[in-house]
Amino acid sequence: MAKYQIATIEGDGIGPEVCQSAVTVLQETCGAGVLDFNQYPGGATHYVRSGFVLPEDTFQACRDSHAIFHGAAGMPDVTYPDGTEVGNDLHLQLRFKLDLYANVRPIRLYQGDFSPLKNRASGEIDYVIVRENTEGLYASRGAGVSLRGEVVTDTLVMTRKGIERVARFAFDLSRKRNGAPRDGKRRLTVCDKANILRSYAFFRSVCDEVSKDYPDVEIDYAYADAITVHMVKKPDFYDVIVAENMFGDIISDLGAATVGGMGIAPSGEVGDTHGLFQGAHGSAPDIAGQNIASPLATVLSGALMLRWLSDRHSDSSLLASAQRVERAVEAMLSEKIAIPRDLGGNASCTDVTEAILKHLT
Ligand code: IPM
Ligand code: MN
Repeated sequence: MAKYQIATIEGDGIGPEVCQSAVTVLQETCGAGVLDFNQYPGGATHYVRSGFVLPEDTFQACRDSHAIFHGAAGMPDVTYPDGTEVGNDLHLQLRFKLDLYANVRPIRLYQGDFSPLKNRASGEIDYVIVRENTEGLYASRGAGVSLRGEVVTDTLVMTRKGIERVARFAFDLSRKRNGAPRDGKRRLTVCDKANILRSYAFFRSVCDEVSKDYPDVEIDYAYADAITVHMVKKPDFYDVIVAENMFGDIISDLGAATVGGMGIAPSGEVGDTHGLFQGAHGSAPDIAGQNIASPLATVLSGALMLRWLSDRHSDSSLLASAQRVERAVEAMLSEKIAIPRDLGGNASCTDVTEAILKHLT
């Protein structure tokens, strides 16, 4: 039995192939006896077969393992009677049941000219979006009002505890980084709509309170509409951005687009005791099973998992492995060895996986 037990849910669509690719890379990098990836069912396809999107056995394994690793979930035609997608319930149940309150979404431009933004070179876009992951507008999922097919409401819920802990997480993260590419300053940008809604004004005020404990990190503010312009016009200004759940969901996709797309967007959804790691993309059923999906987001999410485990267990060998994976991805892309289709190449999922393995130094 290996040192770390990883509950693995391959899921739907491209989930199995990108997950298998990442597991191959992580196992090769870490070597024998370090990681056990234990497979468990979950997602929309499993729901169709069994009636359960997150079986109890799977949930217990997620709760009792060292970390959770996931491919993707969701099939657009598999919905609940209220119209919401079944597959998404897998993530949402895990987020809320395991209190995964910080959804960490690195936005980083690798060498290889993958940004649609003009004249942006590698290193000029390197920030992290920290999305509050257990309240905000998502607190109402499955709990909103639906009356006679005439009136529906979803309420945006914020708590002082929820805001404090995600803000503190974001400030702490900034302290671990090297500041914004533009000026090297440690900066936390609070993304909200405090000008319009008191809930967001409260979000901002609690972040302000927390900032008093972080005099070394500059606090900055941007309204959710304005930040979409800044993320395009001055991406090098950002170091860490903290946002409520729904805003974080939206701006993290825009951020991913500025560095090449969802295929290179990793995510780590963490709380005080558990962590779920997956590419920020969806299940892309239209390209599933054709070996053309990019595994990069999932591979890089695996590196995030190794970093998180390294921190939690004071295990420096995992940090070294994470850095090896990240360097291999960087080298493979900069040398344009196997560029996946979403980044303008024609490399298959297998080609990308093999190229990463070859570049593990
Ligand atoms: C994401 C996704 C999820 C979300 C879905 C799959 C539940 O869009 O992780 O960004 O809405 O948060
Ligand atoms: Mn999303």
